[in-house]
Amino acid sequence: MKKFAVSTARPYDIIIGKNILEKAGAYINTCLPPCRLCIITDSTVNSIYAQVVMTSLMEHGYQTSKIVFPAGEHSKNLTTYSNILEAMADEGLTRSDAVVALGGGVVGDLAGFAAATYMRGIPYIQIPTTYMAAIDASVGGKTGINLLCGKNLAGAFWQPSMVFCDYHTFDSLPPAKLMDGIAEAVKCAAVSEESLLPHIRKKDYEYVIERCVSIKKSIVEADERDTGLRQILNFGHTVGHGIEKLSSFSVSHGQAVAKGLIVEARAAYRFGLAPVDIASPLQDILAEMGFDLSVDYSPEEIYQYALMDKKIMGDRITMVIPESLGKCRLHKISLSELQKFIRLGMKE
Ligand code: NAD
Ligand code: GLY
Repeated sequence: MKKFAVSTARPYDIIIGKNILEKAGAYINTCLPPCRLCIITDSTVNSIYAQVVMTSLMEHGYQTSKIVFPAGEHSKNLTTYSNILEAMADEGLTRSDAVVALGGGVVGDLAGFAAATYMRGIPYIQIPTTYMAAIDASVGGKTGINLLCGKNLAGAFWQPSMVFCDYHTFDSLPPAKLMDGIAEAVKCAAVSEESLLPHIRKKDYEYVIERCVSIKKSIVEADERDTGLRQILNFGHTVGHGIEKLSSFSVSHGQAVAKGLIVEARAAYRFGLAPVDIASPLQDILAEMGFDLSVDYSPEEIYQYALMDKKIMGDRITMVIPESLGKCRLHKISLSELQKFIRLGMKE
């Protein structure tokens, strides 16, 4: 078992281990006194893991309830969010109660946003059950939902009271969902630690989760509200979010990020902003791991979508520019340059 202490404005621990799910209650006891805990989860995770978590919580003095919504990115919307809030109110949850987000990044983002806004904010615990959520989504307090115009356009920064990760839960993940996490791990390696790549290839989950969490923890501690450094974690996401949305989410977040990494890395080099072309090595790694890196949309379609990117301030957007594999910097370009940037990244 590993523990990371995150020093954000509201500090919390990240616990990572194997086969620890049934001890959830004991760990949560260290940060929350007995209260009502509302488990928010999706239909798939509910059928596999909700009971063991609920039993553990009850054994440690918590009263529990559960809200379940249909699995998938399509649920990450205003309707599900509003249903969750109404259900929390129906149950009579108070400010001394808390939410448990049990599932992947969709559950974490939705349940976290509900916790952030219910009665102006109640505590929540993240229990990630996907590789994606373990290495990225559960850490750092970004919560939110998609709007019709785009991904994650409504949300809040709301740090959890604890992240409790049992990576044994990955054993039930379909291979495609594991791949999603691999894409985000490759992004982490590309922006911060090249030496992670062989571990990602070897599927050394324990090592990769611990390194990604440690890297993200340092970045979030330095820039909790995403006004600077934290934006490097968005490498590949300006294009990736566009692909995800344009496909009506038939291309998953991880698959879209993999494509976005290649387009943005290639664009940075061809635009003359990056001294090296890291698109080539990234393409080799991602292709070897089985990613389809083709993009079925035009640069114009992706550009139109990119105009909703949260890294736009006025008429400029901050892009992540590789300096080498494992090191990136931020650089602002104008929106008219962005059009050319995307076009260059997509040209064969
Ligand atoms: P997800 O939450 O939709 O989970 C993927 C699928 O796997 C779902 O169908 C789910 O039911 C199923 N599943 C989850 N755990 C399982 C398990 N252990 N066994 C079997 N099936 C399981 O998707 P995701 O890839 O975890 O997360 C993607 C989302 O996370 C996107 O919405 C993305 O925007 C968001 N995200 C947020 C942040 C952040 O910082 N807040 C960071 C990265 C990604
Ligand atoms: N997933 C990017 C971030 O948390 O900033």
